[in-house]
Amino acid sequence: MSRIALATESADLRQRVQHASGEAVLALTTGALRTEPAHLFGPPDAAAPEVLVLDAGPGADEALALAARVEAGYPGTAVVLVSDRPAEIGLAALRSGVHDILEPGADVADIRSVLDRAARASRARAAAATGRHDDDAAAARGRVISVVSPKGGVGKTTVATNLAVGLARAEPDSTVLVDLDIQFGDVASALNLRAEYSLADAVHGPASRDTMVLKTFLTVHETGLYVLCGSDSPAAADAVTAEDVGRLLAMLASEFRHVVVDTAPGLSEHTLAAMDETSDLVLVTSMDVPGVRGMRKELDTLDALGMFPDARYVALNFADRRGGLSVADVEATLGTGVDLVLPRSRAALASVNAGVPLLQSEVRDPVTKHLRTLVRRYTTPEAAAVRTTVPAAVSTTGAREVAGQGAAASGRRKARHRGGRR
Ligand SMILES: Nc1ncnc2c1ncn2[C@@H]1O[C@H](COP(=O)(O)OP(=O)(O)OP(=O)(O)O)[C@@H](O)[C@H]1O
Ligand SMILES: [Mg+2]
Repeated sequence: MSRIALATESADLRQRVQHASGEAVLALTTGALRTEPAHLFGPPDAAAPEVLVLDAGPGADEALALAARVEAGYPGTAVVLVSDRPAEIGLAALRSGVHDILEPGADVADIRSVLDRAARASRARAAAATGRHDDDAAAARGRVISVVSPKGGVGKTTVATNLAVGLARAEPDSTVLVDLDIQFGDVASALNLRAEYSLADAVHGPASRDTMVLKTFLTVHETGLYVLCGSDSPAAADAVTAEDVGRLLAMLASEFRHVVVDTAPGLSEHTLAAMDETSDLVLVTSMDVPGVRGMRKELDTLDALGMFPDARYVALNFADRRGGLSVADVEATLGTGVDLVLPRSRAALASVNAGVPLLQSEVRDPVTKHLRTLVRRYTTPEAAAVRTTVPAAVSTTGAREVAGQGAAASGRRKARHRGGRR
């Protein structure tokens, strides 16, 4: 079969596409827009066209529906849409998995460059679908910084939103914040954001396969931070699997230097999936006996699972000596050092209520100062120079275990961390 297929009624367009490609083009009529891809091309194997050009005509719905079916079933085929309304239908086209849009009157040179780009994209997608990996892409992976705690209400969202805003302000276009507290997340409220799409929308359909499409599901905060909010409907969390979470974070880490993940209390299936992708862990506890004991148990569990990244940071929130506990007591109970002590502060409470993080308003407050220290941990030149280690295929679900390496990698990580956390 030809490398390029074209569905159009226009003999003139057919001629230009033929000319641009320099080879025989599989000529289809626009009746193809209502036909199943399997009937047009057979199975999604190497014989399917690399590029499918669809002349959308006056209404694009049929072409977009076919593009979505091709995008879902034919990883080696990139769809190019021909439309005279690129601005109007651009976003819908992107979400349907369309690779590029051509104007009906495009000249041969334009058509040639669009066809070349689309063919390159289809080869890359086919390689990804067959599991061939690009070492350079792996090396360029951003940090995934997960903020976790066993208990609720200890300051995870406060820390995560401030860290993300601080990173976005320090390094424009560098940071995305993911609200993985999918059921009851309040990142949107802490940032005073109205999100059109939630995490549950972004893990299905073309956004789950194409990072460019995924980016259109993110909400941009006024600080330049990209945000993927939790869902308004607690039931939506049921539709999000651990695999979805792992794939989402890996895709975001291929695009952003910093992926900050706010989590629900405890070690839910979603949080454990995030841990698989986590390069840097921020553990938050309140300064009281139940909080610190809970954290100790969480540390032990993560240790036992071999899920402790090398880079971790312990934040003690609501610090108040009047409670009868000292930082030394907390460190002794945890068996590890405390890196950040955040005092109880009225400004912190007010900032969450106002939906303006302390590192956005820059309110003078001890907590603001300490949160800046946390941001610097990831932005100094030394921090940037340290290559983050991504947990290698240590999957609690088994879903991402790379042929036979999962158990070995898990064993390695356990060995690495055996004998104490620090
Ligand atoms: N250092 C602090 N001083 C005063 N109030 C704080 C401080 N840190 C957090 N808070 C307040 O405590 C409340 C809980 O904080 P936050 O929402 O960040 O916790 P969380 O761990 O994300 O909770 P959840 O588990 O319910 O998601 C919020 O109202 C927040 O404003
Ligand atoms: Mg929270």
